[in-house]
Amino acid sequence: MAETGKRATARAHSNIAFVKYWGNRDRRLRLPANSSISMNLSSLHTTTTVEWRDQFTQDNLTINGSAAAEGARRRVQNHLDALRARFEIDAFARVDSQNNFPMGTGIASSASAFAALTLAAVSALGVQIPEHEMSRLARLGSGSAARSIPAGFVEWHAGDSHEASFAESFAAARHWDLVDVIAIVSREHKRVGSSAGHETAASSIFQSARTATAPERIRSAKSAILRRDFERFASVVEQDSNLMHAVMMTSAPPLFYWAPLSLRIMQAVRRWRQEEGLEVCYTLDAGPNVHCICRAGAADAVANRLRGLSQGLAIASSPVGPGAYILPAV
Ligand code: DP6
Repeated sequence: MAETGKRATARAHSNIAFVKYWGNRDRRLRLPANSSISMNLSSLHTTTTVEWRDQFTQDNLTINGSAAAEGARRRVQNHLDALRARFEIDAFARVDSQNNFPMGTGIASSASAFAALTLAAVSALGVQIPEHEMSRLARLGSGSAARSIPAGFVEWHAGDSHEASFAESFAAARHWDLVDVIAIVSREHKRVGSSAGHETAASSIFQSARTATAPERIRSAKSAILRRDFERFASVVEQDSNLMHAVMMTSAPPLFYWAPLSLRIMQAVRRWRQEEGLEVCYTLDAGPNVHCICRAGAADAVANRLRGLSQGLAIASSPVGPGAYILPAV
């Protein structure tokens, strides 16, 4: 039995996938259809305090100082239920979560949120568990959160059981000076979020081809990262993003996440790389924002060129980040 009556504060960083997670083989356990790889984003993080108390009569969640919306509250409560079952407690929790990136920019992600929540909740119980186990537990809240537990460049092993599905680091953050320069094409809340999208993935005839070839892209992208081979890295990352969006567009119902400006940016990024030798490539998640991955030395040039494509375009930028960690009590 774990103790209650304690609190802890944890910080976790968002991550951007280079080989994407899209579709689950087990929805309840969030066992993904394929393994994925990503890097953490040091500038985008969630800081969460969890306090468990036997006297609380329900779970309570605030996000950026305000009571959370019903959907978010229910999802956090489900995750706390999974942790209560795992650690054999029945106390409720008070959860306060702060994102350092503005909400509603479309770059907010459940990855940093569920990684920070899991680490804070477990630490507040005073129990010590290995990183693999922390990653497995974070996965139950949001698949991509499994990848925000370990540091730097990370692989999430799909696995075919709860035990076998966790993420681990394969290179430290300092290994390669990549930067994610994010073109914020739309601030609108996405109409179909990732959780709903995962459920439609199998309806595309391309999903089985995408998942069957994912191990080869994982090998190729990992080896390009380990050798710091940008050309090879760029071609795998762009292909994998295109493959995921091909699945999305051919699912029933189809999901079109690209905006006209997203496509203009994607074409410009390829031109800058292939014709002008700028080390940059693109990848897009379940939304129209374009993540332009480049070497640190090219980040200012990439941001300036993006602004040149669309006046007033908002841009966020982040180097490679650490894994999730506990903050000292205040
Ligand atoms: C397109 O982890 O957000 O960003 O497990 O339902 O929370 P849930 O989904 P989520 O899916 C991420 C999908 C993606 C690709 C990726 O990050 O690998």
